Amino acid sequence: MRVTMVGTGYVGLVSGACFSEFGHSVICVDKDASKIEALRRGEIPIFEPGLDKLVAENVAAGRLSFSTELADSVRGADAVFIAVGTPSRRGDGHADLTYVYAAAEEIALALDNYAVVVTKSTVPVGTGAEVERRIRALRPDLAFDVASNPEFLREGSAIEDFRRPDRVVVGTESDKARAVMRQLYRPLFLLETPFVFTSRETSELIKYAANAFLATKITFINEMADLCEKVGGDVQDVARGIGLDGRIGKKFLHAGPGFGGSCFPKDTLALVRTARDAGSPSRIVESVVAVNDARKIAMADRVIAAAGGDLAGKTVGVLGVTFKPNTDDMRDAPSLDILPRLIAAGATVRAYDPEGMKAAAALIPGVTWVTGAYDTMADADVLVIITEWNQFRALDLSRMKRLMKVPVVVDLRNIYRPDEMAEAGFSYHSIGRAPVQAH
Ligand code: UDX
Repeated sequence: MRVTMVGTGYVGLVSGACFSEFGHSVICVDKDASKIEALRRGEIPIFEPGLDKLVAENVAAGRLSFSTELADSVRGADAVFIAVGTPSRRGDGHADLTYVYAAAEEIALALDNYAVVVTKSTVPVGTGAEVERRIRALRPDLAFDVASNPEFLREGSAIEDFRRPDRVVVGTESDKARAVMRQLYRPLFLLETPFVFTSRETSELIKYAANAFLATKITFINEMADLCEKVGGDVQDVARGIGLDGRIGKKFLHAGPGFGGSCFPKDTLALVRTARDAGSPSRIVESVVAVNDARKIAMADRVIAAAGGDLAGKTVGVLGVTFKPNTDDMRDAPSLDILPRLIAAGATVRAYDPEGMKAAAALIPGVTWVTGAYDTMADADVLVIITEWNQFRALDLSRMKRLMKVPVVVDLRNIYRPDEMAEAGFSYHSIGRAPVQAH
């Protein structure tokens, strides 16, 4: 099949590369000429494990190419995916669909045979219908269908998620479009991946419902963590104790500094707006948004409290700034709320992140960026772990203790055991567990 992917952001690039690996002929299009030139040279604009190799292999096999020319790339395609950005609109939190509609109209003018236009970007309910209306208005002569095919991949494991998804969701009433989508995902059929064929509106809602549900799960366990701290419980055991109930499930029950990233914050907010506009407000999702926003801010207070209530003139070492490990993505990362507050409280902040420092430096002024984990600790009065990169999971505790001025660790990801930290001589503060003092 011939596939055109419009938009080479995270979703577009990963999906395009993976479809080419499925054996299809894929052209990835972007207006950003420097990005396309870089991709042609084999340079990948994002950090995603395995993506560089996947792109290189499929380019070499002649199945994957890059272009700035949308019209040329769309001609002859069986499926044209819209995978452009849908940022939160400034002011009201609605998804900004300017790029989606602009792409749809350009596609409409270029198509010369039947194709399925597929929205892969996360778009509010009703967007598919509007895309169809706009294409039809420009090209009443054209045979086409508009389908919704939301993407559920996670940054850091995007390729594996694409290759082995829990399910594929396709929203369209057209048999012809369903057949095209089935053919596109043929290797997954062979793996017996469940396919959910449904209406376009339902498919659009599934994506928001999935992300809002997961964000709710995280926010719920975060609240339980706060409660554990008050009543003397252990949130890790609570998560295990409830998660082993198959109806609850153990995933996404890891308490932490609050969720961030390119999807959960934006999509929960957009769902809140859609639900209000539809006259069916979601009080649950509204609470999740408010609780999570407040949580990220409150994390700075924990650090200040652990340092004795005052950071003036003190040094704080920071491990990890990206919203999660294995990405260089800083979007809505808790560090964006935490670090400026530490600096405002008078601290010198020495931070390290394996992939995120370049992006973070542009977003958080006043931080001293260092070249390795141990460099953050020199003369530090407190060390904060914000992102659970694997390389932070097995630090040399005695070296750490020697480097730090005061051995206080605030672990916002619970990657150490309280007893081992106390044994190693640290005052250790984690999430949803009692703080411990050095033995
Ligand atoms: C998410 C969805 O998982 C994916 O299906 C969707 O397509 C896009 O959004 P992603 O944003 O890449 O993917 O990351 P994810 O691993 O889901 O984590 C999101 C945030 O929640 C991170 O800030 C992470 O630290 C946090 N999180 C996740 C927790 O705090 N606890 C958990 O148990 C899980």
